[in-house]
Amino acid sequence: MSRKKVTVLTLQEKKARGEPITMVTAYDYPSALAADRAGIDSILVGDSLGMVVLGYDSTVPVTMEEMLHHCRAVRRGAQDAYLIGDMPFMSYQADRAEAVRNAGRFLKEAGMDAVKLEGGREMVDTVAAIGDAGITVVGHIGLTPQSASKLGGYRVQGRTAADAQRLLKDALALQEAGAAMIVLEMTPDRVAGELSRRLRIPTIGIGAGTGCDGQVLVLHDILGMFDRFTPRFVKKYADLFAEMERALAAYRDDVIERRFPGPEHAFAMDDAAWEEWMSRQVDK
Ligand code: KIV
Repeated sequence: MSRKKVTVLTLQEKKARGEPITMVTAYDYPSALAADRAGIDSILVGDSLGMVVLGYDSTVPVTMEEMLHHCRAVRRGAQDAYLIGDMPFMSYQADRAEAVRNAGRFLKEAGMDAVKLEGGREMVDTVAAIGDAGITVVGHIGLTPQSASKLGGYRVQGRTAADAQRLLKDALALQEAGAAMIVLEMTPDRVAGELSRRLRIPTIGIGAGTGCDGQVLVLHDILGMFDRFTPRFVKKYADLFAEMERALAAYRDDVIERRFPGPEHAFAMDDAAWEEWMSRQVDK
C-alpha cells in the first residue's frame, strides 16, 4: 500500500474525524515491512519485545541498547508508518536530564518519530522536558507493565470510581504536559471511552474496549507467535507458531530422509571443468 508518511497530525486529525487509528507493535525488519505494507498507521517498537522476542519474564530487564537495536531494524522496514520507540524501565524514571538524553537517542540513533513512556501525573515534568527538547511523547496509563509488581500483577486498572478518577486526572495531566497521544492498557471499556471523549489527543487502547480513538495489539499475539500465554483482550488472526513448528519439523524430516536438498537446490559445474580438475588430481 503506497501512501504518504503518517505524522502525529495525521493521527490527531483521524481522532477529529472519528476515524479509528491502527497501531501494532513490531520489532524487526520483516514485521515492520509487513505492517507498513498492510497500511497500519503506527508501529510501536514496544518493550514487550523483552518477553515476546528476547524471552525475558517481564519488560523490566530490557535495556536502551536492546530497544535501539530493534528500533533501527524497524526503521529500515517501515517507510510510512508513524514510529514510536518505547522507553525501557529506568531509562527515564530516575533523572529528568537522562530521560531527555535517552528520548533523544530514539530519534537520533534509531529514526523514531516519537517515544512512549509509562506513568501518569508523576511523569508530567519528564514528559514536558522531553517535549521541550522537540521530541513527541506518547503517554501510557492504566496497566503499566514496567510497574506490574507494584500494581500487584497484570490487572485491570480503573474499576472503582476512585481509580477511574485517578486515571482521568493522569490523562488530563499528560495532555496538559504536551503528550501527543495516550495508550490506555487494560481499563474498563466505559472508563476508556469517557477518557477518550474528555481528551483532545487520541487514545490508543489495548484491552480498553471500543471507546478509544485507536487500537494497538502486540504483533506476536495477533499472529499467534507467542506460546506462553494470550491475554483475553487479544484477537488472534493467525497461528504462526504452530505453522513454524510444522515447517521446521518437515525440514528436519526432509534432511534426515535425504529429500532435501533436491537437484533444483544444487549448483552445477560443467563437465569440462570437472574433468580438468579431476585430471589435475590424478597428476599429483
Ligand atoms: O510494550 C508494548 O508493546 C506496549 C503495548 C502493550 C502498548 O507498551
